[in-house]
Amino acid sequence: DWTMAEFRKTKIEEIRAQVGSGRVICGLSGGVDSAVAAVLINEAIGDQLTCVFVDHGLMRMNEAEQVVTLFRDHYNIPLVHVDAEDMFLGGLAGLTDPEAKRKFIGKTFIDVFEAEAQKIGGADFLAQGTLYPDVIESVSFTGGPSVTIKSHHNVGGLPERMNMKLVEPLRELFKDEVRALGRELGLPEVFVGRHPFPGPGLAIRIPGEVTKERCDILRKADAIYLDEIRKAGLYDAIWQAFAVLLPVKTVGVMGDYRTYDSVCGLRAVTSTDGMTADVYPFEASFLTGCATRIVNEVQGINRVVYDYTSKPPGTIEWE
Ligand code: XMP
Repeated sequence: DWTMAEFRKTKIEEIRAQVGSGRVICGLSGGVDSAVAAVLINEAIGDQLTCVFVDHGLMRMNEAEQVVTLFRDHYNIPLVHVDAEDMFLGGLAGLTDPEAKRKFIGKTFIDVFEAEAQKIGGADFLAQGTLYPDVIESVSFTGGPSVTIKSHHNVGGLPERMNMKLVEPLRELFKDEVRALGRELGLPEVFVGRHPFPGPGLAIRIPGEVTKERCDILRKADAIYLDEIRKAGLYDAIWQAFAVLLPVKTVGVMGDYRTYDSVCGLRAVTSTDGMTADVYPFEASFLTGCATRIVNEVQGINRVVYDYTSKPPGTIEWE
């Protein structure tokens, strides 16, 4: 795509001009946006860039390894991988209110990131994968009256406290353009085509208290659901698909035994920017196939439901 090739060249020049000989630090989330921003900036300024991946233990199956492998092995970009699972899960213990969970995660993320930034001697610039819809959304999230629906967490809270200038090379782009740029930069397709994933991770897909055990159960169910979606060739037709683990137990029967386990919810939506969304209309047989596999293969789940709510009035995530 010639436009993206042009964009890449122009941005690299701009980044070099902005940064000079300064040091840049970039928070990786595991998502497409921060990954594309990091690879582009690395191309512009090489090892003046350090990436920090704060692993909160709320990632999907194998996600943390994929990020580390991509950056360290595929691109050879310096990456600090912080295993902060205990800190995050420790602090989440006892928290059930969605906003309390989000605020704790956002604050802890900043604390960990700041501590790591200091360890590497600080930086003059903070790189972020801010997109155009993020710029608009932070002005008015719903497009309607200005109320906080959810406290969105990404690295957006950092700059005021950290006193660094921002490098945001993706500010003019929409999601599909970021993906095109990612391909232009040679990021593997599995990475570029990924569904968006929220900063607070699985914590907002486990209504009620988040524990390691519940994260592990959810990771398994989510991986099966996505495996089925990929096998059916539907992954790219869907904006976002994921499982949620409900704080509700119901009675079931497996073989000769009564079970009393958690309910798993499945969600899949189409959207262009996440601001509004339609429910993805799976065939019933596809969903029953997913339900059967999840109940058979995941200990701790004995019932599966599908979420038929569009946005609005629902939101995409459950918290
Ligand atoms: P909602 O649930 O508000 O989500 O309809 C809209 C889109 O935003 C994602 N999302 C987040 N992304 N930090 C993020 O980086 C967050 O705190 C956050 N909360 C929701 C969500 O996955 C969907 O794509």
